[in-house]
Amino acid sequence: MAILITGGAGYIGSHTCVELLNAGYEIIVADNLSNSNSESLNRVIDITGKSFKFYQVDLLNQNEVESIFSENKVDAVIHLAGYKSVSEAVVKPLAYYRNNIVGMLILCEMMQKYGVYRLVFSSSATVYGQPVSLPITEESTLNTNNPYGRTKLMCEEILRDISMSNRLWSTALLRYFNPIGAHDSGLIGEDPMDIPNNLLPYISQVAVGRRAELHIFGDDYPTPDGTGVRDYIHVMDIASGHVKALERVMLKTGVEAYNLGTGIGYSVLELVDTFEKVSGQKVPYRIVERRQGDVAVCYADSSKALMELGWSATRGIEEMCADSWRWQSYNLHGYEGSVPKPVKISVY
Ligand code: WQD
Repeated sequence: MAILITGGAGYIGSHTCVELLNAGYEIIVADNLSNSNSESLNRVIDITGKSFKFYQVDLLNQNEVESIFSENKVDAVIHLAGYKSVSEAVVKPLAYYRNNIVGMLILCEMMQKYGVYRLVFSSSATVYGQPVSLPITEESTLNTNNPYGRTKLMCEEILRDISMSNRLWSTALLRYFNPIGAHDSGLIGEDPMDIPNNLLPYISQVAVGRRAELHIFGDDYPTPDGTGVRDYIHVMDIASGHVKALERVMLKTGVEAYNLGTGIGYSVLELVDTFEKVSGQKVPYRIVERRQGDVAVCYADSSKALMELGWSATRGIEEMCADSWRWQSYNLHGYEGSVPKPVKISVY
């Protein structure tokens, strides 16, 4: 039974590959490497001792996508490939709509052509926008305020329409809160291509000496210390959530959305403090003005995932910071800094 993972060389993707291989699945990875490094896949082999097929393809190239389905028996798809920067999406909305939506349409058309109807889709808590109430449940109002979030919401709606038209489809929509951390081997982790948009990789680059100081976007929010509060969740808990969702789409049809969060909110300053404690490194910072589009507080109610998937987050904030620090300190410049090694993966 082969599971196709699009975006499998990325941050969430590489960690999900580890969990799937450890669970005994045969996997096929498709990635265009526009925002990832194939070295991450070599590291997945190092961690699991298992190999897999890798297709360096762009989902916008229909023929390349079809070759995966014509050359393999795909049983289900975990679709992670997509652009994911909120700030970049504001500047390049057309690129985001084309890549994230047309890419998924081509994938779904090929799935339908080859009779593959089981899908786990990478969505995001950003579809909730400014929360109306907390904690956020799957029934909370969906009112995203940025083009990136709108691509995710539109993809969710498209997948619901596809499922309504053909009851064979079985789809899980996974709404990630704030994934951080790394596999505890320190071999794989978050490796932003340029200046990190997100908090944790920026903190870890300051701690390791790659950047001078962290800019904290506002300390005048209605929160205990004035800085933004988020539901940070270990990337390995996100990865195990994909395995649980895959098990569900194998058994039941229809479309269901699931929040993947811990239900606990931490402020920026609390995260800085925790990171300093577990790494033993100072993280100099400066308070600057708020970042446009940021919400004050956001954290999940993930009880539906517990009840229906048997999933819950198991790792705490200290472990998230410690695993991030291990990855960053072992890989000062991410995968780019690694000594070039022969490609172990079977490239098709
Ligand atoms: C977290 C907190 C910032 C950077 C985004 C996307 C979301 C998901 C995760 C894809 C906020 C503060 C950050 C910095 C800071 N991505 N911050 N200085 O914005 O909650 O969520 O990434 O699915 O869709 O919206 O995450 O890490 O950018 O910010 O002060 O240099 O850290 O203001 O309070 P966010 P983030």
